[in-house]
Amino acid sequence: MVLAFLVVVYTYLGLAAALSKEGWRTQSIYQLLTDRYARTNGSEAPCDDLGIYCGGTWRGIIDKLDYIQDMGFTAIWISPITAQIPGLTYEGTAYHGFWPQQINQVNPNFGTPEDLLALSGALHDRGMYLMVDTVSNDMAWNGNYTTVDFSIFDVFNEANYYHSYCPVTNYQNATQATQCWTGDQHITLPDLATENTVVIDKWQTWVANYTSYYGIDGIRLDACLEQDMEFFPYFEKSAGVYVMCEVYNYPIDGVCAYQEYVSGLLNFPVWYLITDAFGSISGSMSNLYDGLTEVQGNCTDVSLLGNFVENHDVDRLPYTVSDIGLDQNAIAFVMVNDGIPIIYAGEEQHYSGGAPPANRETTWTSGYNTSTVYYQLIKQLNEFRTCVISKDDTY
Ligand SMILES: *[C@@H]1O[C@H](CO)[C@@H](O)[C@H](O)[C@H]1NC(C)=O
Ligand SMILES: *[C@@H]1O[C@H](CO)[C@@H](O)[C@H](O)[C@H]1NC(C)=O
Ligand SMILES: *[C@@H]1O[C@H](CO)[C@@H](O)[C@H](O)[C@H]1NC(C)=O
Ligand SMILES: *[C@@H]1O[C@H](CO)[C@@H](O)[C@H](O)[C@H]1NC(C)=O
Ligand SMILES: *[C@@H]1O[C@H](CO)[C@@H](O)[C@H](O)[C@H]1NC(C)=O
Ligand SMILES: *[C@@H]1O[C@H](CO)[C@@H](O)[C@H](O)[C@H]1NC(C)=O
Repeated sequence: MVLAFLVVVYTYLGLAAALSKEGWRTQSIYQLLTDRYARTNGSEAPCDDLGIYCGGTWRGIIDKLDYIQDMGFTAIWISPITAQIPGLTYEGTAYHGFWPQQINQVNPNFGTPEDLLALSGALHDRGMYLMVDTVSNDMAWNGNYTTVDFSIFDVFNEANYYHSYCPVTNYQNATQATQCWTGDQHITLPDLATENTVVIDKWQTWVANYTSYYGIDGIRLDACLEQDMEFFPYFEKSAGVYVMCEVYNYPIDGVCAYQEYVSGLLNFPVWYLITDAFGSISGSMSNLYDGLTEVQGNCTDVSLLGNFVENHDVDRLPYTVSDIGLDQNAIAFVMVNDGIPIIYAGEEQHYSGGAPPANRETTWTSGYNTSTVYYQLIKQLNEFRTCVISKDDTY
């Protein structure tokens, strides 16, 4: 109740209030890929190649905020904003935003700094919040590890900010995952030494300005399994906002261990359980129940976990599940489970792409139809959740 009141006051005064972890508990997040969401000129022409830029921009998103807000979402999670490997590579272009090079410049394909500020302002004017996907594990180089020129990176511009080269071959080995390099022989991801105090200090200075300058209310942090755990408290403290870490493909207790260092986590443990329980008519509800109990037993605070059934890295559920009853139950589960619900753009249009980039469809192809069964289902579930949590005074 108190929070809801404060939100109204802040909105009324037009102030951009950075959102604490407590504030994020009551939000409902819509994840979108900036390049795939909406074009500045509103063109809904198809994109022929999902491996390269399709033309989505921050200005385009501003024009679609009614569509998002009317579905009941209070926050959006957008792609990384930083300048990337330019041009076409052997693996397509950096349309996804996970190949950073100049972290003090924005990706010109998505717009100008003024456009990003306009998006942040437009969200805050509506009482909505901005979460930005952020990469702190590495920089990106178009070529193999023998050819990296560190001087082109604009903050971490010397080799001594990075671990020396070794490839990660086993992500379950924490030493290797945190100290070796990811990427491959075409796109190399030089691995920042996030345990090094100079690197930590530079990230702290950068992130404090990043959140305040652009009015960023929350951060989705990429590749946390590949970074030193002790880095996260420093990063989150300087960010001054809720940070939600990605720890993919790891056991429940291993994932939950990260919550000792960072406020939020993507709920990958429960994602595996959901895809199992709702992936077929023989899916096991008792496994889901037992798994939820294990997550509750291991994680510090399940109300700060981000629940999802789809995202840009995994197959969409309808890729393998044609039974819409199962699929709609999976969405309903995500919307009412303890934690923060996250719906990935396209779920409301029953998109069905498999492995990337097929699961990174352009949203404009749907015509942003608000009459679809899925759009209306998600809208009703958001209304239901808002109603339930507004009656709980502990928030
Ligand atoms: C709209 O913008 C795209 C680039 O994003 C461009 O290819 C297209 O020609 C433009 N369409 C119109 C009608 O201006
Ligand atoms: C903060 O970030 C903005 C945008 O990247 C940049 O223009 C500005 O110079 C930065 N300010 C400081 C103090 O670093
Ligand atoms: C790295 O790339 C360079 C230039 O393309 C090539 O000459 C070299 O053989 C490559 N090395 C490895 C280890 O792939
Ligand atoms: C983990 O990886 C490190 C670095 O590659 C290696 O030295 C170590 O033997 C590995 N540990 C296990 C248990 O495989
Ligand atoms: C923590 O998770 C592990 C599986 O990763 C499980 O075996 C254990 O029972 C859980 N602990 C609690 C207290 O639930
Ligand atoms: C929008 O979706 C509804 C329900 O599926 C359908 O009847 C309608 O034709 C769609 N509208 C457009 C413009 O495609």
